Amino acid sequence: MTITRHAQIDWDEHGNPHSRTFSDVYFSTESGLEETRHVFLVQNDLRRRFTELPEDGRLIIGETGFGTGLNFLCAWQLFAECACPGARLHFVSVEKYPLDRADLQRALALWPELAAFANPLLDQYVAVHEGFQRLVFDQGRITLTLLIGDALQMLPQLDGQIDAWFLDGFAPAKNPEMWTPELFAELARLSTTHTTIGTFTSTGWVRRALNAAGFKMKRVPGIGHKWEVLRGAFIAWPADAAPVPAAKPWFARPPVVQGERKALVIGAGLAGCATAESLANRGWQVSLLERHAALAQEASGNPQGVLYLKLSAHGTALSQLILSGFGHTRRLLERLQRGVDWDACGVLQLTFDDKEAKRQAQLAAAFPESLLQLLDQPAAEARSGIALASGGLFYPQGGWVHPPALCELQATHPNIQLFAHHEALTLRKVDGQWQAWDEQRLIDSAPVVVLAGAADIKQFEQSADLPLKRIRGQITRLPETLASAALSTVVCAEGYVAPARLGEHTLGASFDFNSVDLTPNVADHLGNVQMLEEISHDLVQRLQLTDVPPEQLDGRAAFRCTSPDYLPIVGPLADREAFIEAFAALGRDARQVPDIACPWLEGFYVNSGHGSRGLITSPLCAELLSAWLDNEPLPLPRSVAEACHPNRFALRGLIRGENK
Ligand SMILES: Cc1cc2nc3c(=O)[nH]c(=O)nc-3n(C[C@H](O)[C@H](O)[C@H](O)COP(=O)(O)OP(=O)(O)OC[C@H]3O[C@@H](n4cnc5c(N)ncnc54)[C@H](O)[C@@H]3O)c2cc1C
Ligand SMILES: C[S@@+](CC[C@H](N)C(=O)[O-])C[C@H]1O[C@@H](n2cnc3c(N)ncnc32)[C@H](O)[C@@H]1O
Repeated sequence: MTITRHAQIDWDEHGNPHSRTFSDVYFSTESGLEETRHVFLVQNDLRRRFTELPEDGRLIIGETGFGTGLNFLCAWQLFAECACPGARLHFVSVEKYPLDRADLQRALALWPELAAFANPLLDQYVAVHEGFQRLVFDQGRITLTLLIGDALQMLPQLDGQIDAWFLDGFAPAKNPEMWTPELFAELARLSTTHTTIGTFTSTGWVRRALNAAGFKMKRVPGIGHKWEVLRGAFIAWPADAAPVPAAKPWFARPPVVQGERKALVIGAGLAGCATAESLANRGWQVSLLERHAALAQEASGNPQGVLYLKLSAHGTALSQLILSGFGHTRRLLERLQRGVDWDACGVLQLTFDDKEAKRQAQLAAAFPESLLQLLDQPAAEARSGIALASGGLFYPQGGWVHPPALCELQATHPNIQLFAHHEALTLRKVDGQWQAWDEQRLIDSAPVVVLAGAADIKQFEQSADLPLKRIRGQITRLPETLASAALSTVVCAEGYVAPARLGEHTLGASFDFNSVDLTPNVADHLGNVQMLEEISHDLVQRLQLTDVPPEQLDGRAAFRCTSPDYLPIVGPLADREAFIEAFAALGRDARQVPDIACPWLEGFYVNSGHGSRGLITSPLCAELLSAWLDNEPLPLPRSVAEACHPNRFALRGLIRGENK
């Protein structure tokens, strides 16, 4: 794995940013805006296309080289000027060397006329680490998916279709590694016969190579420094090129549900509220059904949860999901009140044994310091404000969150109606609508239903076979003392403890695979206190815990919900019996790909299995689910989306011969 480096920028005497790596300018302050507009907006005919978008229409732009975001901001500005209120813009841009925030701010300050768009970008430009990073603006009207990494590595992971390409990325002569037939083949793979393209270069071999990839390019007059530029359209995948392999039918995109854009979301915890918001942002009407009197009453109801990144140095699907999910949640939190709803106080993971020390050293070698840093014991003590037995790995952008506040934020959208005190017991498909029924009453119906009820989604016959397990967990609430107020970061070992929120620290959390009793018990409180002792004896004393009789400890218990591979379960569901019948041949030869469409349960979706890290995974999985539903570019690499797909279990069962 390579560590993503920030752009190395020099500023010339006019204040223009120059790339040290490529010895080229990002733009010129004299004519940069006009060039951007002429090369990318005009050549892709965006004014007309934005103006003609219908109320629920959407246009997807793809770009190589996000740089300072100038092209993005100009596209957004034009969109704001001429698209109708319900239309949406989705901008996907790949960037190998993202600018750090200070450089981005300095570069964008050169364009005061773009401030209304640049300021929200700067506000959201946090935790932009490698991989897929989603940023959402203007209540979901504008979506930006940054693919942080090399274009030739990132674009092949993208699942989506682009309507207009901005082919940027420094002059071909200065950056020949990027301007290659492989890149152009990727652009072609992601294009349709409606896709257009603009680029600032008119170099002959670029034009010929794009033509060879299936585009039809032509030279047109340029502007400013550019005498001529290229515009083009995608015509067809070249006849002499190997065809693009189609997605396997069990992971293919289900047909888009036609008609009314209305969804029932069942369960108002982190997963349900996030799903409701992602859909509402796309213009869906959402009925959010919750059996309790209010949202966030079960696992999502703890006073504090930790934004903790359990990463792998080997780039596993889970690790990629965590890094992308962390970035997305972290940016959502910017909308909440610091200190009460969340705090970016950092998270310190102690090096409690040799195995952990080895793991932490690998992580420190694999990720940049802006994400995680090894601290020796004195530095860890200085950071956390308490005495510790060891140093650890510090995540400066981590912290704690009051999960109900995030749920509340996401569920408060004019398109979302909360049906509290409504437990859905059965789901029936009648005339193309999913009906949610309690004992005798029809609660509501819609063409789409999303199950977000954690492990209780197994109560429905359609999803009864999903392998979800409940794990009871209990947290202990500890009143803040004068001495415990010194704690200034979250500290974790086996358990975790957070700086106080409203006068109370949260200490977590027990794991019990067997118990189904949610009454808080003394044994789990004692177990939590023991974990605190392992974190810091000093903190135990500061909290005067030795003076508190165990039966007076206060807390709450709830169920986590996990899958066997610890990845969430997110996406469309198939009819299990029909699936087993359709793909039975896999039991005989796992390499076969039967040419049979997946028997989807049309309009039936799941967002569950968020385990111990729902704060990090739920909001991004809601975006993933919405991308499946609205046929949008996925916010995660295709391989990660497949690793989270509900069909993976039935598929594995077939291959292992378990379904005979
Ligand atoms: C003790 C403990 C500590 C944790 N600590 C952390 C942490 O530090 N960091 C972190 O990221 N995560 C943590 N987690 C995990 C995190 O809380 C979960 O991953 C997350 O809350 C899951 O959200 P959810 O919406 O899937 O489930 P839930 O919050 O359980 O929500 C499901 C909702 O669906 C409703 N529902 C279910 N069935 C129906 C139905 N048929 N009709 C109507 N409503 C229904 C339920 O009432 C419930 O409100 C912790 C969990 C526990 C238990
Ligand atoms: C001229 S700048 C882009 C300007 C940008 N579109 C803007 O609006 O500011 C070129 C960008 O391409 C990026 N880049 C160059 N080679 C790349 C590659 N192989 N993969 C991804 N990004 C690359 C550079 O880091 C740089 O940010």
